[in-house]
Amino acid sequence: MSADGAGAAIAPPLLCCGGIFIVPLLTGLFGFVPQHAVGTSLMTIIFTALLSVAIWSEQMGNPVFAAMGIARDDKAMRQDWVMRGFRQFDAPVCVIVTYDRVLDGSDDTPFDCGAVATALVNAAWSRGLGAVINSQGIMQSPVVREHAGIADDQVIMKSIALGWPDESFPANAVVSERRSVEEATVFVGFGN
Ligand SMILES: Cc1cc2nc3c(=O)[nH]c(=O)nc-3n(C[C@H](O)[C@H](O)[C@H](O)COP(=O)(O)O)c2cc1C
Repeated sequence: MSADGAGAAIAPPLLCCGGIFIVPLLTGLFGFVPQHAVGTSLMTIIFTALLSVAIWSEQMGNPVFAAMGIARDDKAMRQDWVMRGFRQFDAPVCVIVTYDRVLDGSDDTPFDCGAVATALVNAAWSRGLGAVINSQGIMQSPVVREHAGIADDQVIMKSIALGWPDESFPANAVVSERRSVEEATVFVGFGN
């Protein structure tokens, strides 16, 4: 992972800490009453959610902001953009990728979920459907679990918004820059 990607990767684990660890920590170790512990935990979740999106936007979103005419200091429009992500980009369908809890800890598991997501996005695209793989849609995973009826033996991994692309939407015209194959790959044993 590049150093740029590290910030975006750190924030979601922080998010999980908000719900799972902070409440027991505050009540058990620091003697918080449960209401205060839950409130503090909730603030942590909201803060880390906004932080991770902000980090992601900072790294990946600048060309999009430029296309959308969103100035760097336009907090209201930037916030509006963040909220669009939480609304799954106003797409009609959101696919939640999950895996069996028994597969937890295997290094194959995230690999397989990525493969499923890639296959789904490519299959959708082959039929003219746009897709956005995203973390925003599962940041409140207990809510997603409840509304989508996802069983407890499933771990929620990622969400994918699906819909017909709006070609007139400025952000959809942005083409991301990619590192070249030569930059991203090390070839060994090819005689050069
Ligand atoms: C694992 C993963 C998580 C992502 N999370 C988000 C997200 O939470 N919000 C968002 O707007 N885009 C997110 N993205 C980025 C979009 O899926 C998509 O990559 C972006 O719109 C740019 O597409 P492009 O790189 O093909 O141009 C994520 C991408 C990946 C692979």
